[in-house]
Amino acid sequence: IEKTYNMIKPDGVRNGHIGEIISRIERVGLTIERMELGMVTLEEAEANYGEHKGKPFYEGLISYITSGPVVKMVVSGENAVATMRKLMGATNCADAAPGTIRGDFGLTVDENVIHGSDSVESAEREIKVFFGA
Ligand code: GTP
Ligand code: MG
Repeated sequence: IEKTYNMIKPDGVRNGHIGEIISRIERVGLTIERMELGMVTLEEAEANYGEHKGKPFYEGLISYITSGPVVKMVVSGENAVATMRKLMGATNCADAAPGTIRGDFGLTVDENVIHGSDSVESAEREIKVFFGA
């Protein structure tokens, strides 16, 4: 069964959207297999966002993702990766459709509420980074 790594980012936690986001994940029939509230370490942040190193927004991205507690999750189900990306909406909250998590709970591309793996391969790597298995 397909697995994906999702993370409610610091703004999503700070603004009180944990419950609503979890409800949306459950409502489509996906299963939350693992879940943990905690900080992202600098090491984890750099491992997760290595592909963006050198880009102008990289430093801001690392400091934002380590700025407060997040909710780390492993979500499973048929087409879990794509289904979560659909629930999340476009990367830039300003472009994300109403009804998507980013469209409903975020305003910008810098603080965009939630992360979701972009492929099965990324998911496997990210689950190792954040849960060590
Ligand atoms: P994640 O689920 O967070 O990985 O988002 P994504 O897969 O939709 O986007 P991507 O992996 O391309 O980018 C990772 C994160 O970098 C995004 O969530 C944004 O917060 C940030 N980011 C990406 N592109 C830009 C950009 O052009 N400008 C700024 N300021 N931030 C960006
Ligand atoms: Mg990404």
